Amino acid sequence: MRLLITGGAGFIGSNFVHYILKKYPDYEVINLDALTYAGNLENLKNLENNPRHRFIKGDICDADLVDKLAKEVDIIVHFAAESHVDRSILDSAAFVRTNVIGTHTLLEAAKKAGNLRFHHVSTDEVFGSLGSQDAPFSEVTPYDPRSPYSASKAGSDHLVRAYFHTHNLPVTISNCSNNYGPYHFPEKLIPLVITNLMEGKKIPIYGDGLQVRDWLHVEDHCRAIDAIIHKGKIGETYCVGGNSEKTNMDIVKTILEILCRDESWIEHVEDRKGHDKRYAINFDKIKNELGWQSQVAFEDGIKKTVQWFIENESWWKNIKSGEYEKYYQEQYKK
Ligand code: NAD
Ligand code: TYD
Repeated sequence: MRLLITGGAGFIGSNFVHYILKKYPDYEVINLDALTYAGNLENLKNLENNPRHRFIKGDICDADLVDKLAKEVDIIVHFAAESHVDRSILDSAAFVRTNVIGTHTLLEAAKKAGNLRFHHVSTDEVFGSLGSQDAPFSEVTPYDPRSPYSASKAGSDHLVRAYFHTHNLPVTISNCSNNYGPYHFPEKLIPLVITNLMEGKKIPIYGDGLQVRDWLHVEDHCRAIDAIIHKGKIGETYCVGGNSEKTNMDIVKTILEILCRDESWIEHVEDRKGHDKRYAINFDKIKNELGWQSQVAFEDGIKKTVQWFIENESWWKNIKSGEYEKYYQEQYKK
């Protein structure tokens, strides 16, 4: 099988590239990534000489490029996105461009290539925000996005479904909860907490820190997408979650304990605008139909993740100092 993976230099995309190349020794990957601030070739460093991995620096909004690449593959697995809620609050233009127009450009390419198989990687944030007693999100929960990020992802989900109904494009969609693990960009909560503590900086907690997220190790997300692209039913959506609801304060306290620090490192700061209170996922469908469930318990996964950041200090220090941009400019300046 030949896969076009978009956004494969980002956090989840790069984990998926490594996962697929390792698990399927005869699969080939074309990795299309624009290398925005979130894309990092260091995430793919040990693949430089792998003949089954071809990296292309390019934009998913470039119709000529994606039309050409779509003709070379059996499936598009689409991760590329602007992914950070706080950035979408400051400026949402890039979110609409990449998440909506970029997804549309890829769908058109898949249609023109002869109704190519298409898997769209989306988020649970499209469903909105839950109260503490509400039932978790599932595949039948109405869409209710509340940030520019989640609204742009919701728009992309609708387009994917529209191409299935209108053009018979063989699509699947996954809506996954918050991921954590290696290569997690240190603007997001878990890597920010770990790296700030390692740098001797305080941890900024928005508001009371009692917002709830359902955390899933990125390897479990990769296994879920693997199951969907191989066994998923065309036209279907699968909700993917870790059965691991935690408040942000729970997360921070767990990491403080692993790094033997006290709570004086926590600093409550102004709350995020429109801050979603709680996300939770009912993943019965993917469990019952495809036999998937998470394998990494949060308590183990978070310890391993802290250890990964300790062992890969230069990776995140390069990002925090901006050095990683120099690395890819040298590699891809032509
Ligand atoms: P990320 O921000 O770490 O990576 C995004 C990647 O997309 C980067 O490598 C970036 O360079 C690339 N990219 C951005 N714009 C592009 C463009 N126009 N053309 C080509 N490449 C472009 O994001 P992530 O956390 O790895 O998320 C990947 C996908 O998974 C996203 O679609 C996101 O919505 C979804 N998702 C993320 C989470 C999570 O917890 N991080 C949870 C559920 C779903
Ligand atoms: P984040 O990692 O940005 O993911 P998302 O907003 O997509 O869920 O944030 C996770 C939670 O942590 C969210 O409730 C916002 C909160 N948060 C903080 O309290 N402080 C921070 O510095 C960041 C980045 C997030």
